[in-house]
Amino acid sequence: MAQIAGQSGLFITLEGGDGAGKSVQSNALLQRLEERGVTAVLTREPGGTPLGERLRDIVLSLAGSGDSPLHPLIETFLFVAARAELVERVIAPAIARGDVVVCDRFADSTVAYQGFGRGVEAEVIERLNEIATGGLRPKLTVLLDLSVEAGLARARAAGTADRFEREAVAFHERVRAGYQTLAEREPDRWLLVDARQSPDAVAESIWRRVEPLLKRRS
Ligand code: TYD
Repeated sequence: MAQIAGQSGLFITLEGGDGAGKSVQSNALLQRLEERGVTAVLTREPGGTPLGERLRDIVLSLAGSGDSPLHPLIETFLFVAARAELVERVIAPAIARGDVVVCDRFADSTVAYQGFGRGVEAEVIERLNEIATGGLRPKLTVLLDLSVEAGLARARAAGTADRFEREAVAFHERVRAGYQTLAEREPDRWLLVDARQSPDAVAESIWRRVEPLLKRRS
């Protein structure tokens, strides 16, 4: 897979439960970066390439533990396959060009959803992520933290409830706690933001953390 030697760009990811506002905030961040004259690329997982979007359709319509035919490990393989494709085709080339890449979900989503949520072994996910990303890790990961109740209510109101959003509340509670554990483990990489705040206030907290990273690059 892609080798990320001598990377010069900046890689930022957004994570959080369903309905936490990741896509709104990814777009807001991209806009601020562009206003600053920074060349930035916005992408998302699963998706971001034609193959990735097809894998997204498959996994979002089939994923699940209840009545679904997808085994958690196979679900993991599909997300990781989409990731490998996105890193290879989009993220690694952009980082190599020196661009800023903003990615709506990345490797931590698999740790939170398939690992903490579905119980796939942490070492297995770590190894698969390592292979798929060629060791590329975000410089900053924003965790949009929101109660499960509020997140699912938002997602349902938006009419975007997919296979994951129909999972039991206990599943989403494990995902949320998993994210909080990851953020505590690596405080230098993670920025935890209270997603109950207004979208503008959330965008402002993110920008305060991103701006100094831009200065450091130039
Ligand atoms: P996304 O489109 O970001 O959904 P939302 O905007 O509702 O948060 O992601 C789709 C779903 O895929 C989401 O419920 C989380 C899940 N997912 C995983 O379970 N594992 C993964 O590795 C990724 C990238 C996503």
